[in-house]
Amino acid sequence: MSIRMAKPNAAKILSAETRLAIDQWIAKYPVEQKQSAVMGALNVVQENNGGWLTTELMDAIAEYLEMSTIAVYEVATFYSMYELEAVGEHKLCICTNVSCMLRGSEDIVAHLEKKLGIKLGETTSDKKFTLKEVECLGACGGAPMLQLGAEYHENLTTETVDGILDKLK
Ligand code: FES
Repeated sequence: MSIRMAKPNAAKILSAETRLAIDQWIAKYPVEQKQSAVMGALNVVQENNGGWLTTELMDAIAEYLEMSTIAVYEVATFYSMYELEAVGEHKLCICTNVSCMLRGSEDIVAHLEKKLGIKLGETTSDKKFTLKEVECLGACGGAPMLQLGAEYHENLTTETVDGILDKLK
């Protein structure tokens, strides 16, 4: 697949590799609806930027998809998977919604906070871990759970949490 011609700013800010990946999202939709690729584009750009999005990057996405910047900001601020500030190398997204809460997510959060020495919403000083509180991730049957990258870790105990951290250290 060839890379689409980008306007100067987007071409400068988004790498050729990133634009190619966005083009693959654009190709999934009718030509006149390239804006539908905005979530895919945000995912690609965030992943290629160490896990977070800058205003400059979101503006470049808007330009590339020929949509308003505010429409891109709205998507990026609405969904919890997008980060507008730098995060650690490993982002632990802990569900604290009803099922997970009833099955002990408070203990999991307390354990992680103690082990990592940070609170929910914070990043360790070595930039290795970020703890993030999230709403239901649709894995209530495995509560309490957390998401790490593309993986779900379910039926958590303090022991299994320790095992997850040990593998990441
Ligand atoms: S309440 Fe935690 S996954 Fe649904």
